[in-house]
Amino acid sequence: MERVRIAEVLNTAPSENKITVCGWVRTFRNDRFLAVNDGSTIHNLQLVIQKEDHDDEILKQLNTGAAVSAEGVLVESQGSGQKVELQVTSLDLLGGADPDEFPIQMKRHSLEFLREKAHLRFRTNTFSAVFRIRHLLQFAIHKFFHEEGFYQLHTPIITGSDAEGAGEMFKVTTLDLDNLPKTEDGTTDYGQDFFGKPSNLTVSGQLEAELGAMALGQVYTFGPTFRAENSNTSRHLAEFWMIEPEIAFADLNDDMALAERCLKYVLGYVLENGDEDLAFLENRQIQAEKQLPEKDRSERPLREMLRLVVDSEFVHMTYTEVIDTLTRSKPYKKKKFKFPVEWGVDLQSEHERWLVEKHVGGPVIVTDYPAEIKAFYMRANDDGKTVAAMDVLVPGIGELIGGSQREERLDILKKKCADFNIPEDHVWWYLETRKFGSAKHCGFGMGFERLVMYVTGMNNIRDVIPFPRTPLSAEF
Ligand code: 4AD
Ligand code: MG
Repeated sequence: MERVRIAEVLNTAPSENKITVCGWVRTFRNDRFLAVNDGSTIHNLQLVIQKEDHDDEILKQLNTGAAVSAEGVLVESQGSGQKVELQVTSLDLLGGADPDEFPIQMKRHSLEFLREKAHLRFRTNTFSAVFRIRHLLQFAIHKFFHEEGFYQLHTPIITGSDAEGAGEMFKVTTLDLDNLPKTEDGTTDYGQDFFGKPSNLTVSGQLEAELGAMALGQVYTFGPTFRAENSNTSRHLAEFWMIEPEIAFADLNDDMALAERCLKYVLGYVLENGDEDLAFLENRQIQAEKQLPEKDRSERPLREMLRLVVDSEFVHMTYTEVIDTLTRSKPYKKKKFKFPVEWGVDLQSEHERWLVEKHVGGPVIVTDYPAEIKAFYMRANDDGKTVAAMDVLVPGIGELIGGSQREERLDILKKKCADFNIPEDHVWWYLETRKFGSAKHCGFGMGFERLVMYVTGMNNIRDVIPFPRTPLSAEF
């Protein structure tokens, strides 16, 4: 008999037809009630069994984590908490789970503990909810860009270019590290390497996306990116996914409008399609925050916060305004910030979070950063000091999106390459798009895991990607 997913079963009216469900046991009470989950929904299906009908050997093995298959009829539930339940007529144990060894028991486990059991943590309510929401979010992103007339472009993961300057790169090589071929001057002879030159894992698909946009008009990438920074924070991964749209014939205002539309669309989509999981995660956050002092708790429940963002207009501030605001802030005057605040320095997470959480109370788009602290490709503003950059900062996360208008003027871009020590022969292909049919264009990058954190209310980026890669950690 064909298996029916529990999400569907729970929306079915009682009937005399027999159905089959499969899933993993969450609890088994009074030798009678078996709560089973198959991952299709946060809710369990209650299976009601008659003890007499089943082998003692099997009953003994219906522990948390065991996989079962059951046939039965759907009846109105006698108990509270569910509308329907399955009166089981036959039950198969597919795979047992020894309670002395299975680590995911029905008590509250810490997220840190579950990170070490990442291969099994999908079996918990929290992680199944997070990964269903993660799926909905990526689907909403593709839907948004498709509806807006973008084409997805698959930019390379292995790259011979290191021009982006977004972070330290992981080397890709087939050379024998214990026996490296040398050139006459004693350096490694990359001519003998797989690609005949040094190559790396990409930190961003942007430069290649720009090439696509200068013909297809609007493209986006959605792929893994890699940064070997040794930053062990709750917001950095060594391997993370990024969405990078790039649009031709558009300026920074168009870029910011796109980012705002995109964010509102995907939040709206999960609010509409992921309510049960969001409700669960909202409650999880409230419970978890009970341990915190009141001032550190979220100001409003998760879904209310997300809905507010969908309905709000994002606040815009220039970098210069932000620096002014920060130097007039209480934490600045009381010397509470660890990092310096003055025109020219990069904003640190503590500054970004004060701005969005305490000062504005919602997303802020910061524009026109000093040229020195941003990448070479950002378009120079007329003031000669700043570039047409924009970062979208959000409460709880800080920087969610970073983007800019791109420098489309060949002479200025060449000068920027020189200033940033980027040899022109490394980026000759990038420069040629400015030589042939150059036009203004812009784009941004949104960190996908940061978006998932924002939407699920999870505090650590390691808990929103199935198998996190961080310094000294690449298990699974
Ligand atoms: O600000 P970033 O470095 O920008 C770029 O890479 C540009 N090429 C984007 C573009 O204009 N096309 O990174 C973009 C976003 C950040 O705002 C952040 O959300 C995320 O990527 N991000 C990370 N997420 C997780 N772990 C890391 N180590 C991250 N570094 C950046
Ligand atoms: Mg950035």
